[in-house]
Amino acid sequence: MNNRIRLGLLLGFVACAGASPGAAQTAGGGSAAAVTPAAVAKGDNIYHKSGLCYACHGSNAEGAVGPNLTDAEWIHGDGSYDSLVATVTSGVPKEKSKSGIMMPPKGGSTISDDDVKAVAAYVYSLSHPSP
Ligand code: HEC
Repeated sequence: MNNRIRLGLLLGFVACAGASPGAAQTAGGGSAAAVTPAAVAKGDNIYHKSGLCYACHGSNAEGAVGPNLTDAEWIHGDGSYDSLVATVTSGVPKEKSKSGIMMPPKGGSTISDDDVKAVAAYVYSLSHPSP
């Protein structure tokens, strides 16, 4: 993925966060220690390939069928690394879905638990620009 586009997204996020005080929560909690550059790079690849995430969340995670994953708003969980791992692992059942559209466990892909952690690290990095 093009780094310049990603930087643009991050800068856009920072700008939005600044414009709406209170909406931004960057601390997030959870064990972000797992969010290493290597895990993020691996997760980037999984997001766009074997994990199928891009198909519903957009190739820049800007949102499509599934919600935007780059902002500070979380429908499910608090955006912490741990909660991202949990959501990706179990998906979102129809009853819990805000839009009424469900997300199958692991997005319907067959990625391993380690892959889930890497893709969670990638998603975490998108919404938490400053490590
Ligand atoms: C079949 C479409 C689909 C695929 C594939 C998919 N998702 Fe989702 N995702 C959704 C939907 C739909 C929701 C919940 C929408 C709602 O509640 O309104 C969701 C929710 C989420 C959330 C919670 C967002 C929030 O605001 O709380 C995360 C995180 C997430 N997905 C990550 C992923 C990752 C990572 C992958 C790849 C492994 C993936 N998704 C694959 C459709 C999908």
